[in-house]
Amino acid sequence: MTELANHPLRDDHAGTSEPASAKPPGPCSIIIFGAGGDLTKRLLIPALFNLAQTGLTPEKFVVIGADIAKRSTDDWTGSLHKILESFIGDPNAEDQISTISEPSWSKLIAHMSYVQGDFTDAAFYQSLKIEIESLEAKHGTGGNRVFYLAVADRFFGTIIEHLGAAGLVEHKDDANAPWRRVVIEKPFGHSFESARALNAQILKVLKEQQIYRIDHFLGKETVQNIIALRFGNGMFEPIWNRDRIDHVQITVAETVGVEGRGKFYEQTGALRDMVPNHVFQLLAMVAMEPPVGFNPEAIRSKKFDLFAAIETLTEADAVRGQYGTGTVADKPVIAYRDEPDVAKDSATETYVAMRLKINNWRWAGVPFYIRTGKHMSCRMTEIAIQFKKAPLAAFQDTSLETLPPNWLVLRIQPDEGIALQFEVKHPGQTMRLAPANLEFWYRDWFKPEPNVGYETLLYDCMIGDQTLFQRADMVEETWRVVQDVIDAWASTKPIEFPNYESGGAGPAASDRLLSDDDKSRHWRDVAIPKKDPRA
Ligand code: BG6
Repeated sequence: MTELANHPLRDDHAGTSEPASAKPPGPCSIIIFGAGGDLTKRLLIPALFNLAQTGLTPEKFVVIGADIAKRSTDDWTGSLHKILESFIGDPNAEDQISTISEPSWSKLIAHMSYVQGDFTDAAFYQSLKIEIESLEAKHGTGGNRVFYLAVADRFFGTIIEHLGAAGLVEHKDDANAPWRRVVIEKPFGHSFESARALNAQILKVLKEQQIYRIDHFLGKETVQNIIALRFGNGMFEPIWNRDRIDHVQITVAETVGVEGRGKFYEQTGALRDMVPNHVFQLLAMVAMEPPVGFNPEAIRSKKFDLFAAIETLTEADAVRGQYGTGTVADKPVIAYRDEPDVAKDSATETYVAMRLKINNWRWAGVPFYIRTGKHMSCRMTEIAIQFKKAPLAAFQDTSLETLPPNWLVLRIQPDEGIALQFEVKHPGQTMRLAPANLEFWYRDWFKPEPNVGYETLLYDCMIGDQTLFQRADMVEETWRVVQDVIDAWASTKPIEFPNYESGGAGPAASDRLLSDDDKSRHWRDVAIPKKDPRA
């Protein structure tokens, strides 16, 4: 660390409060539906606060919070401040902060206002319109609006229809006319059909360029870095294909359980909650073709092409699991079926593993294995790329089978970084091989800054950059890939549930996805990488 601190290449400006090349967005209002919800409290407002502190909120700006509860603006902003306070010094908090800059907070809340209303009542949108127009006039936001739907998915279509009927989201193809954008949280549909129906419903009111379908994984620096790594360097592209890559493993392991979300999770399960959205976004970043330009449509079209090339999965390509009792982070934990609001004979999966085939020239014959689960041994998201072995073992007494493979591991979270594993000569008189690691850790190279993962997404929405948001066709295509598995699982009850211990690596049955293809393939350990393997 001390050596790195003085390294001539270390970017000491990265992560400082100076907006390097980013400029504050132009004037606008953000209207948050679901102002009292967890997402707003724990992520959106902290992200706006972080943006405000780095000078990246508009100068002419207003944030309107809307929700069903009757309360004053002061009560609303007071409760938001309390959440920020609770983050201070908590290593597990969404925002790693040591203090709250009160002048910055006061400046932000001077732009905030709360309105009460029922999202299903047409009359509410009339009063909202009056409120928005009066605040727009007061703050000079020029009629530019972001509507952020931080609400349960059943409200998405209804709210957008009401916004349309009230004339709140009118869009003109004129660069000088005020713009209106709508951010839609996940889940976008719960099946191929429902995603299509929702797209059809909202596209009657909005144009595609007004719609920002969010997937918060794309707000993570390390996820955006995959594009930088692949397309900002010449050395990777020649080996990034079926000639050199054996297979790819994507793991999103979580230690949390369903965290009081039993009602939601019973209807959702691990597959719908994580795969067509978060896991497929990681997959797209690692497997898409180079875009023809760094603009939203060029990048999103390449992602769509990738999704379109994934073969529709069958039940044989998937393994499901549900956690039983066990120990997570040294604490005993209950089984999924004992969680509040969960059926005692629940068939909902809390773990899913899948084998994907991508039918294009780059990836034909290279399996992508993905897995995600709750109550696993540690929190770890990584993309691990296994390269093909050397074609010949040119050393005495070393058989080809014993040569370990090379891995390139992109560590998404926590301990963000990149590691390359290869063989070196073990010191001594004989030619003996030993694995070694070349590692890059973000925290050694860049100064960390408070970031809840929504800053970039909110900022991009305010400046009108849709690169990191899902297009209608992309969402539908990802549901198409998994729909047959969803249907098959809905019609057969898994008798073996629960089938993995909390605090473990998931069900043993998922090993077969790899070993059926090649006996020498195994899942990588679900373990936090050691910064220094000798330590
Ligand atoms: C959410 C899922 O979208 O993502 C949760 O609904 C999951 O179940 C979460 O825990 C994971 O996100 P992160 O950023 O904590 O890795």
